[in-house]
Amino acid sequence: MNRYQLKFFADSQEASVFVAHEIANLIRQKNKNGEYCVLGLATGSTPKSIYKELIRLHKEEGLSFKKVYSFNLDEYYPMEPNSLNSYVRFMKEQLFNHVDIPAENYFIPDGTISADKIKEFCAAYEQKIEALGGLDFQLLGIGGNGHIGFNEPGSLINSGTRLMMLDHATRVAAASEFGGQLSKVPKKAITLGVEKILQAKRIVLLAWGERKALVLKAAIEGPVDETLPASYLQTHADTLFVIDN
Ligand code: GLP
Repeated sequence: MNRYQLKFFADSQEASVFVAHEIANLIRQKNKNGEYCVLGLATGSTPKSIYKELIRLHKEEGLSFKKVYSFNLDEYYPMEPNSLNSYVRFMKEQLFNHVDIPAENYFIPDGTISADKIKEFCAAYEQKIEALGGLDFQLLGIGGNGHIGFNEPGSLINSGTRLMMLDHATRVAAASEFGGQLSKVPKKAITLGVEKILQAKRIVLLAWGERKALVLKAAIEGPVDETLPASYLQTHADTLFVIDN
């Protein structure tokens, strides 16, 4: 029997408020117990409305990120952090610059490290998460081909944090953010592995709009295998799929 839950909302806005409030409650609960809250965060267009609500909760309702650690799922490789398409820049613009999270508390895979240091970097990234007791909460979107983070089809359930060759379909989907030029989309990315994602205590995957409907159905109802990495979430003990009607 599947252990995941599904929750449907009238629209992505309502869904985002719900998820942002879950994150806020978790931060408050952990902080009340004198603990840090360790978040796994995602990029893409889907979570933007969550970050917007978290900023509102910070500005209007006193939600503090001082005792939050966060780890982003992925970053293109190579990628300069101040580049228009960098996920470092995305996270600063969408969330970090607008809340009180200390700069030393958030981590995003480094798109500037030399190729020979990537393996070492990825191992250290995982160790940092482990040293903090693992991810309390992982936010996920889903790629059109069923990827999570940048774990493309073919990724194993125990795959580690690593450099990944991006699928052609993923690069085509991203091209609009690179001025419509496929040749400008990096061919690789560093991604948190499936194993670390599945070790998160709680996972919430967001999917909005008709364009995600079929891949979502396959991830939720289809077989669990490497052709659709999001299907691995069926094996996780506490995953919620948040979906608009
Ligand atoms: C990228 C990101 C994923 C994200 C996916 C979907 O590939 N690496 O983490 O889930 O895009 O993006 P969007 O939310 O824009 O549909």
